[in-house]
Amino acid sequence: MGKKKMAIHFSFFLLSIAALLTTALSDLVISKLDRRIDLISQTVRVTSTLKIENAGSDSVSEILLPFPNYQSKDLAYLSSAIIEGKGKTKSSSVILPVEVVNPQGMPPDLTWYSVSLPKRLGKGDTVTLDVLAVFTHSMKPFPEKITLSEHQLVVFQDSGHYLSPYLVKAQSLVIKLPANAKIESFTKLENSKQAGSEIKYGPYENLPSFSYSPIVVHFQNNQPFAVAEELIREIEISHWGNVQVTEYYSLVHGGAKSLGEFSRLEYQARPDIRGASSFKRLTAKLPPRAHSIYYRDEIGNISTSNLWGDSKKTQLEIEPRFPMLGGWKTSFTIEYGVPLQDFLFQSEGKRFLNITFGCPINDLIVDKLIVKVVLPEGSTEISVAVPFPVNQSYETKLSHLDMDGRPVAVLEKTNAVLEHNQYFQVYYKFNSFSLLREPLMLISGFFFLFIACIVYMHADLTISKSSPSYLAKLQWDEAQTVIQQIRDIISQSLTIHDKLEASLRDLSRTGDVQSCKAVRKTSDGVLKEFSKELKPLLAFLHSSSSHASQIFPKVEDLVTKERDLQEKLMLKHTTVVDGYEKKTSGREMENRVAPIQQKLTVLRQEVDDLLDFIDEI
Ligand SMILES: *[C@@H]1O[C@H](CO)[C@@H](O)[C@H](O)[C@H]1NC(C)=O
Ligand SMILES: *[C@@H]1O[C@H](CO)[C@@H](O)[C@H](O)[C@H]1NC(C)=O
Repeated sequence: MGKKKMAIHFSFFLLSIAALLTTALSDLVISKLDRRIDLISQTVRVTSTLKIENAGSDSVSEILLPFPNYQSKDLAYLSSAIIEGKGKTKSSSVILPVEVVNPQGMPPDLTWYSVSLPKRLGKGDTVTLDVLAVFTHSMKPFPEKITLSEHQLVVFQDSGHYLSPYLVKAQSLVIKLPANAKIESFTKLENSKQAGSEIKYGPYENLPSFSYSPIVVHFQNNQPFAVAEELIREIEISHWGNVQVTEYYSLVHGGAKSLGEFSRLEYQARPDIRGASSFKRLTAKLPPRAHSIYYRDEIGNISTSNLWGDSKKTQLEIEPRFPMLGGWKTSFTIEYGVPLQDFLFQSEGKRFLNITFGCPINDLIVDKLIVKVVLPEGSTEISVAVPFPVNQSYETKLSHLDMDGRPVAVLEKTNAVLEHNQYFQVYYKFNSFSLLREPLMLISGFFFLFIACIVYMHADLTISKSSPSYLAKLQWDEAQTVIQQIRDIISQSLTIHDKLEASLRDLSRTGDVQSCKAVRKTSDGVLKEFSKELKPLLAFLHSSSSHASQIFPKVEDLVTKERDLQEKLMLKHTTVVDGYEKKTSGREMENRVAPIQQKLTVLRQEVDDLLDFIDEI
């Protein structure tokens, strides 16, 4: 162990502050400072309360907060608020603007932020500020690689003295570590001590400006180091009543890399293997009325996810197909719809979307977050309001029925954390007539009539209910309802398919043939019911003379393909279950199942594509 410690070659940050800097930047003095560093997750949160006093005679309008560059490069979020009142009535109110500045003659290894005060601080006045700084990737795994039987250790470095251009009269620091975390070592300074899972430095009195005293803490942290190297959130507005959110995650376990020969396949065979720092599931907090939620990866829907919720939120617990060990990667997609009226509003002749920006998964660091807002075709005068800096650009998304494509506002943020889960707005103008463009292309003949009908209705409200356009609309509405019903039945069947697949996975884990057969029996019953329900619906489509004829062949195709898929799946199920009962060798079973699986994959893709196509209508 001693050797390991010696090996911490940590490039200590050294302040190259020349003697000339000892003249303070201004006459501000920090009369009291409490700093708290929270290291209990993978994100570092530093909360500082600064009581600042103007000891000079000139009034001051800004407070400077320097950070060493090695910290500022990992700074994800910085906010500052004034605290009003004292004791129990204490509350932080106004969030103050913070910006990067370059004061003259300062050492190059510092990055400076300036907080603007709402009113100038006069001679002898005091103000109390709460500053929150959030850092990502600043706890480094050490050692960098561990075996499955080892705990994950990390190092964190900072200064035991608050780095400030101002004199600090009294200060203290508390570092909070995960409960029961083993502490390998921490830098001892004068007045430093460990108390349970906290390390305390100070109080220190009358430290001059730019005091800096490096400290390193080396401790156990087995929290899930879940990092999205990239997350694309696509938020698509459809004026037909829905906001569709699709989130594409590329996830990595950002902690100590896992040493050893384990492959994912071996892992599946021996699910009991699990390192202390690995994680199995993540929880996403979705909006309260989220519906049609699904979670899939490159193989397909993952049905082991759990969903629950109340009037304030919907929680989705997602469980990747294999537990995540250090350094392992996975990608998956979460998709859900939310009611349009919950997120789309109108103001001053414009519409605006008001929805949260960040990632819905708890304590997930996002290295690169891209939020794309897809507006309806024909939207104009688009503008975006985000409460923190982001990169903005525009692109166009084309789907089969669009003529010019839909405008997309693209917002990019590096280093996103929980604190970026704030509301943002996208404003745009939209002419309601554009709404009719897509259906117009689909069933143009009918819709011309329909529009004519609307115009006619405006002119004369006594339009006859037996007019051809009115009847056509009724028929189309009816056809749409039927298509929707068919679609729902098919997607319910797919859920049953997923259950059957899951039963096979369970079988390979537990060898319990009886419960696998029980699942099959129930599934057979349910699927039979579905096929009964489909019959009259299909018959209706056949007989309908509505103009939506282009879509009918697709719907029929969907039903046929799903039936094929079902057949192949049953064949696979029977083959595997028989194999288990007859104790067929793994290789032999593989040979039998592989060709079926190939067909299954192709069919599933086709069914999904058809479902997507029908959803676009
Ligand atoms: C956006 O929605 C949030 C939550 O409902 C609300 O607090 C906020 O005021 C809204 N913003 C705008 C600009 O309407
Ligand atoms: C996945 O399951 C959901 C909900 O059960 C369903 O709506 C969706 O169509 C399915 N999608 C795929 C790709 O199987």
